[in-house]
Amino acid sequence: MNRSICCIGAGYIGGPTMAVIADHNHDRKVIVVDINKERIAAWNSDKMPIFEPGLDEVVKRRRGKNLFFSTDIEGAIKECDIIFVGVNTPTKTFGRGSGCASDLQYWEATARNIVKVANGNKIVVEKSTLPVRTAEAMERILSQHSQFRFDVLSNPEFLAEGTAINDLEQPDRVLIGGHQTPEGLAAIQALSAVYGTWVPKERILTTNLWSSELSKLAANAFLAQRVSSINSLSALCEETGADVEEVARAVGMDRRVGPHFLKTGPGFGGSCFKKDILNLVYICESYGLTEVAEYWRQVVAINDYQQQRLVGGIIRTMFNTLANKKVAVFGFAFKANTSDTRESPAIAITKMLVEEHAQIVITDPKALVHVKEDLGPDADKVQTTADPYAAVQDADAIILLTDWAEYKTLDYKRIYASMRKPAFVFDGRNILDHAALRALGFEVKGMGK
Ligand code: UDX
Ligand code: ADP
Repeated sequence: MNRSICCIGAGYIGGPTMAVIADHNHDRKVIVVDINKERIAAWNSDKMPIFEPGLDEVVKRRRGKNLFFSTDIEGAIKECDIIFVGVNTPTKTFGRGSGCASDLQYWEATARNIVKVANGNKIVVEKSTLPVRTAEAMERILSQHSQFRFDVLSNPEFLAEGTAINDLEQPDRVLIGGHQTPEGLAAIQALSAVYGTWVPKERILTTNLWSSELSKLAANAFLAQRVSSINSLSALCEETGADVEEVARAVGMDRRVGPHFLKTGPGFGGSCFKKDILNLVYICESYGLTEVAEYWRQVVAINDYQQQRLVGGIIRTMFNTLANKKVAVFGFAFKANTSDTRESPAIAITKMLVEEHAQIVITDPKALVHVKEDLGPDADKVQTTADPYAAVQDADAIILLTDWAEYKTLDYKRIYASMRKPAFVFDGRNILDHAALRALGFEVKGMGK
């Protein structure tokens, strides 16, 4: 086995993961390849294709030394004995399982490419999130007409956007699944050695292939379920006079529950949660586990409900009409510290506001580039500005949807002066100082309060 590593797919997962691996393995050549020329050009430029705190430094430290970005996919497959596959696996939008199942066409194309050009035995590592037992299909494709052996491992990525570098540097665990055969165990060892240069041994967890594949879906389903649980209670809090933050604190102090992922908001977004839960639902259904499928489907249903509920509350509070009222949407990214807007609650919420004929101005420090594509035909009906002070000029309301820290420190006195009265603030993330805003004259509504 040689020590070179490549990753097919230079996306949110492949880029940062390989950069950190290269940073901790100077004696290994790490090549990240992609069919997308612009993406590779961006990785090779001063402006990274994704925004991630700390990423620039790591890439600049190792690029050209032992970290390379290239479009020569076949060359990389030939050169490296460990091949990570981090291509996209979006939810299918057509045919059987549309809206639920994973679209595995990019994965399969990659597997076929590996078989075609391989010049020796390879370890193929699933990095993309995949349905359980995908490895089985991959093994079948890889074992066709080849004199070489391909050992398939599952090594799901748990990094969260915005903290990707830190999550990679100090992972809660690195999960490696493989066959419990001598060859499978040797492959697991070879991959463990890559992470072992910086991850403590006890945090490298090895399992069988299917457990590893399912654990990734299960971890995201659990996290999303916590968000839906607290969001469902935020509705009840608003009816009963309980304060959802007090409830979350009280519940989270129980060590068996834990304090994380209990913040109410406009619903979860991001590329993983919805996709992975629907994928789980689809898998359960395909095994005839209808009740289990329904249980998890409800996590997504509550997420949609939370967004409708938020807009309903805004309409009610603003005297049952938004027509021609100017609303400033603070935040378009699905969470703070990322430019990513995939499945961002702001998309669905903005569309609902457009239906109400509100005049919408969206502001966001990083994510405005995606507004046009995300809103489609509705994009013509909204304005955008990076300057929150410009967004609130003559506005009737502010709707805060992303927990960007900068929104906490704006000059709200100045903002109040430039808005129409009564001036409303809907703090969809409960990050602002509501008492201070009320003292300035704002009418304030938080979530679950
Ligand atoms: C998530 C998982 O955390 C990661 O392990 C997995 O690999 C990919 O999916 P990410 O999508 O980057 O990562 O975002 P995350 O920080 O988990 O947040 C997901 C969504 O839940 C965001 O929209 C966030 O605002 C929301 N959220 C999170 C809440 O509404 N409340 C919370 O308490 C936590
Ligand atoms: P993730 O969030 O899982 O990293 P992204 O969509 O950010 O997903 O990145 C996946 C990358 O995989 C994209 O840059 C895409 O161009 C690349 N890709 C898709 N199919 C192939 C393929 N057959 N060969 C190489 N790269 C591919």
